[in-house]
Amino acid sequence: MSTASLSAVILAAGQGTRMKSVLPKVLHPLAGRPMVSYPVDRTVALGCLQTVLVIGHGADQVRQALAGTDCRFALQAEQLGTGHALLCAREELDGFSGDLLLLCGDVPLLTDDSLKRLLARHRQTDALVTVMTAKLADPTGYGRIVRGDDGSVQAIVEHKDADESQRAIDEINTGIYLFRAPFVFEALERVGCDNAQGEYYLTDVVAAAVKAGGRVEAVVLEDAAEAMGINDRCQLAAAEAVLRRRINEQLMRSGVTLTDPRTTYIDAGVAIGPDTVVLPGCVIKGESRIGSGCTIGPNVVIDSCAIADDVRVKAGSVLTESEIGAGTDVGPMAHLRPGTVLAGDNKIGNFVETKKAVIGQGSKASHLTYLGDCELGTGVNIGCGTITCNYDGVSKHRTIIEDDVFVGSDTQFVAPVRIGRGSLIGAGSTITRDVPADALALSRAEQKTIEGWVSRKRGKKKD
Ligand code: UD1
Ligand code: CA
Repeated sequence: MSTASLSAVILAAGQGTRMKSVLPKVLHPLAGRPMVSYPVDRTVALGCLQTVLVIGHGADQVRQALAGTDCRFALQAEQLGTGHALLCAREELDGFSGDLLLLCGDVPLLTDDSLKRLLARHRQTDALVTVMTAKLADPTGYGRIVRGDDGSVQAIVEHKDADESQRAIDEINTGIYLFRAPFVFEALERVGCDNAQGEYYLTDVVAAAVKAGGRVEAVVLEDAAEAMGINDRCQLAAAEAVLRRRINEQLMRSGVTLTDPRTTYIDAGVAIGPDTVVLPGCVIKGESRIGSGCTIGPNVVIDSCAIADDVRVKAGSVLTESEIGAGTDVGPMAHLRPGTVLAGDNKIGNFVETKKAVIGQGSKASHLTYLGDCELGTGVNIGCGTITCNYDGVSKHRTIIEDDVFVGSDTQFVAPVRIGRGSLIGAGSTITRDVPADALALSRAEQKTIEGWVSRKRGKKKD
């Protein structure tokens, strides 16, 4: 049994013409992450020493998208075939002489368990090549696994090069392999391109290994769907459905109730605590964190938020880049925009919009309000129809409302303005100047009442 070290190469230079997109195929998002991040994650999970990505089409974009990872990059300027692609990675691997895992950037559904099985077989058998295969009802288009009478793998023959009897084989090459690195690079130097597609086929190293008297092993995938490659947007949607189902099932097993998992869309980076209930129609995106005992939905959109325990986010609310403290009620139909920070036990009610609003413990804005570029202390009560007028057409200004202020309905705060602790703002006021603590501030025209005015007017009209 070999115990060689492990590195990985991910092929991602192909164009992906059938996506009909300006975005490189491997950057199309799946459950909120670029497609290629899935195979990259697998190499991390398997403990690969280094991961080299072979890039070509859209190379700069792919490089940028993976800038935060430990991946190295090898450029394949011209796509001359999978064999040529792997050769392009040789230099970046710095003379690596252990086992080499080969993945494809457009095959996102492989699981760690399947790859562990592949690795175990490769090491137990000391094979030169171990190929992951699958049995398909319709193997059209794939390379076929040609086995000898004793069942041993003899070669991989591409569909376009296969004869009638080879095309009848239902075991296909998934394009995922383990190689002994020194062997594969040496063999690839001798692989030609005399085939139906005029390409340098990586698959030719299988016959080369057999010819050299080395061992070739094959591991058949239990679930062939794991090897699905993404070539068009129909396959993209199919893969998305598989990934989302996996995410939802994992959450449900960890104690989250999803009332209707079929209509619940949760990104790969989201974490949700136990006993939280997500009602139908919710979309939870980015690296959102939701605590335990929360109720979310129905039809709520949460993007990149941190939500503490026992929070209720009610129907139709949209929350982006916000922090919600424990025990808070949001919605229905609330819009929390980036930079909203709620300390806890808050109420942000229907048709309330917040932006860069830092709001202290227990403060409430229950109806029809805009709170932008503001800071509220604790225990503040914002009446219905309050507006922070934060923009003068040139720049943004802040409104500061200290602890325990009571704001009457239909108030405008023309920022910059500061309202002192415990003061009271009369309903219908336009506040343009600072208010000291403990004061009543009121800015209304005095009411005029003209008795009998209506019937006099009507009387005139009749004349
Ligand atoms: C390949 C296999 C085939 C297998 C199939 C599984 C070969 C010769 N054939 O066929 O046996 O059944 O995958 O999907 O290997 N790529 C590059 N540079 C290139 C060519 C390809 O980076 O020059 C990348 C592609 O971006 C893709 C992967 O390699 O991620 C596979 O290439 P693709 O053209 O899809 O291979 P197939 O011809 O389908
Ligand atoms: Ca393919």
